[in-house]
Amino acid sequence: MYIHVLGAAAGGGLPQWNCRCDVCRLAWAGDPRVTPRTQSSLAVSADGRSWALINCAPEVLTQIRRTPALFPRQGQRDTPIASILLTNGDVDHVGGLLSLRESSPYRLYATSEIHAALRDSPVFNVLNPDHVERVGVDLEQTLTLAEGLEARIFAVPGKAALYLEGEDPDIGSEGEATVGVEFRVGARRAYYIPGCAALNERLAARLEGADLVLFDGTLWRDDEMIRAGVGHKTGGRMGHMSMAGESGSMAALSSLNIGRRVFVHINNTNPVLIDDSPERREATRHGWEIAHDGMELEC
Ligand code: MLT
Ligand code: MN
Ligand code: ZN
Repeated sequence: MYIHVLGAAAGGGLPQWNCRCDVCRLAWAGDPRVTPRTQSSLAVSADGRSWALINCAPEVLTQIRRTPALFPRQGQRDTPIASILLTNGDVDHVGGLLSLRESSPYRLYATSEIHAALRDSPVFNVLNPDHVERVGVDLEQTLTLAEGLEARIFAVPGKAALYLEGEDPDIGSEGEATVGVEFRVGARRAYYIPGCAALNERLAARLEGADLVLFDGTLWRDDEMIRAGVGHKTGGRMGHMSMAGESGSMAALSSLNIGRRVFVHINNTNPVLIDDSPERREATRHGWEIAHDGMELEC
């Protein structure tokens, strides 16, 4: 199984267009300790020829241009992208669909709840149904995303997309709004969970024995955005568990037998994005890698 991290940052990217938090300031200054990152997306393949995108970031065109495996290969119009699977309806995960509208066929997989969110936004009607087949996926359903690449989606504690939240959002609920993905090629098993509010026993049991887990790395600590002076929401309120601390993801996953663990969907306020920071060293000590754009994983 081949996995390319197309974009490793959370919503906003790094640096974020309007942000001068400690990490973004270093990125704006071109400091070599902070590598810019685009928003959250993966490309996955079983054979290196036929690919699936998991989420479709607003920067998808740039991401494709710097990933030779995703270049068109023959004839006048072509793409090795067979399908796109969405894990939620957030803008960082669906915005790029508006740029993939030029009449190449692909399948767009999502739960019916996520499809409904797209249907409610008429701008997505630019995706011509003659070419883009919108396929509803049930939780726990197995599907073939690309040649030889089996996947299954499962509910993850999360919340509705920011623009659908309403007055009193239901945070941490499990349903069709936020899903994780299991990939299987032969006996190899990998997981992609870019948004997760809590690691419950069911999810932990699922991840046990995985060859690779790419996990929600939005925040280092729950009140990080408030401390940085750039927001008023905690990670918990945003539906993201933090990395550090007793209730953090590093602790929650520490007892599991997992071949390789990688943080993705990393918010620009997160100090692990600074290469030599104490937080980066702590994550590394716990066996975690910090994803960057262009990271290639073989599993
Ligand atoms: C999130 O992951 O919480 C969202 O992408 C936030 C956002 O839409 O900016
Ligand atoms: Mn996001
Ligand atoms: Zn920032």
